[in-house]
Amino acid sequence: MPPPYEVPRLSVSSAALGAADVDLIIIPIAQDHTASAIGAYDAVFGGDLGSALERGEFSAKPCELFVPRTPGKDWRATRVIFVGGGPRADIHAERMRRMAATAAHAARHQHHGRIAWADVEPGTLATSARVELIAEGVTIANFDNGVHKSRGDREFFLKDVVILTGPDAAAAAATGSATGESINAARVLINEPGNFLTPRILAEKAQQLASVPGITADVLDERALEALGMGMLLGVARGSSEPPRLLVLRYAPAAAPAGATLGLVGKGVTFDTGGISLKPADGMERMKDDMAGGATVVAALRSIALQQLPIRAMAIVPMVENMPGGKATKPGDILRAASGLTVEVNNTDAEGRLILGDALWYARKLGATHVVDVATLTGAVVVALGKTTTGLFGTPEPWVEHVRAAAGRAGEKVWPLPLFEDYREQLKSEIADMLNSPGRPAGSITAAMFLREFAGDGAWAHLDIAGTAWAEESKPWQPKGATGTMIRTLVDVARGGLPGV
Ligand code: BES
Ligand code: MN
Ligand code: ZN
Repeated sequence: MPPPYEVPRLSVSSAALGAADVDLIIIPIAQDHTASAIGAYDAVFGGDLGSALERGEFSAKPCELFVPRTPGKDWRATRVIFVGGGPRADIHAERMRRMAATAAHAARHQHHGRIAWADVEPGTLATSARVELIAEGVTIANFDNGVHKSRGDREFFLKDVVILTGPDAAAAAATGSATGESINAARVLINEPGNFLTPRILAEKAQQLASVPGITADVLDERALEALGMGMLLGVARGSSEPPRLLVLRYAPAAAPAGATLGLVGKGVTFDTGGISLKPADGMERMKDDMAGGATVVAALRSIALQQLPIRAMAIVPMVENMPGGKATKPGDILRAASGLTVEVNNTDAEGRLILGDALWYARKLGATHVVDVATLTGAVVVALGKTTTGLFGTPEPWVEHVRAAAGRAGEKVWPLPLFEDYREQLKSEIADMLNSPGRPAGSITAAMFLREFAGDGAWAHLDIAGTAWAEESKPWQPKGATGTMIRTLVDVARGGLPGV
């Protein structure tokens, strides 16, 4: 199997554009560029940029590309690509990352292995944030999702990337590159089909991904889960001949203040057939991505450890395959959670909340004070918020706000949905403490409220990525398939420490 991605060597330099010894220079340009900037480029490119803008051949719209003529011989680079940014006031984190990924992808396509990014368009961003996003964008563009193809051209990868910027940007570039690598690694796992990624294999690969200094790993097998009384997790696993696993990663640097511990919990369903409440055949193949939340929290913890953030954190991933085998849980069965609550399983396709319920309980047991779970949990969140916005739930308000602000800085869209007590009624069962499938109305909210029953009293937030984990169509900055969403948000949640909530 060819490598699914390569991490380009990243460096920063304060050399002038003309002095950069690379194959290609990428120059970002906002729509409201100044006439003097255009004049300076026109001197190099024989008026190409100015006339293209005048004719409307290029208008610097977001991620629009323009290749002028070869620069004069006082430039060392042989090629230049301009990448549009739209209005400068709109160049926030997400836009900058997309611009970098789009242009870097174009460079790869044209087999330019050594490129430079001219950091001449600040947008709305501070230098270190901007350099980090550029490094991250370039790295996630160096990704190939066709690893199982046995025929066709080999992918061309970027080898060297120089960011031409001011001094003191090296650390930001390194951080962005490491985050980009974590995102790529998560995307590889998420894209992997169910026959190549069973719970046991996921546990192994996730452990490998997290084997960086400072992280310790434990994998609990079915016997350990039984000893803990995790009846919900085991109830989902029962329909498959593949045994379940629970991955526990811990990061506890000496510099971390005592007391607070971030608990990241991610859904790890390696394939979701729906179980006995079988899903329709159309589109079921997509359900290989039902472990995206699990890959996300592992990749995030890896990044947190690589950055040596001074905070205690853990990642917990329950891993199962949801299958309709002969021993499978049947609709109407009652399962007993590790917390002691009983659940009537009226729909075996609402399996995510079952495995997460036991995992959330365990996160608290291990001492997590501030919890965030990430899960491809409900189709209903796609109806509510679509394919680009992640659903955000939780309690108390300041913790939810902390997560929301982190997503804003990371340039990932999240939007809060309410947990009004009225909805709680839908979870009522006649014969057990709760139902697992409370019907269609407010399906994402009732799923979140189910999780809340196991999240205990401390701070808890839930991110429903069912709409955002997977891109249905290729975009210049993102190939079809796993997106790796929420990794940078979780890293940002950990930056700056945990709030007292
Ligand atoms: N993994 C699915 C949710 C999902 C749906 C993710 C579409 C991505 C795209 C989850 O396990 C599921 O099946 N949820 C059910 C819950 C229902 C039975 C209460 C759903 O959303 O239909
Ligand atoms: Mn399901
Ligand atoms: Zn599922």
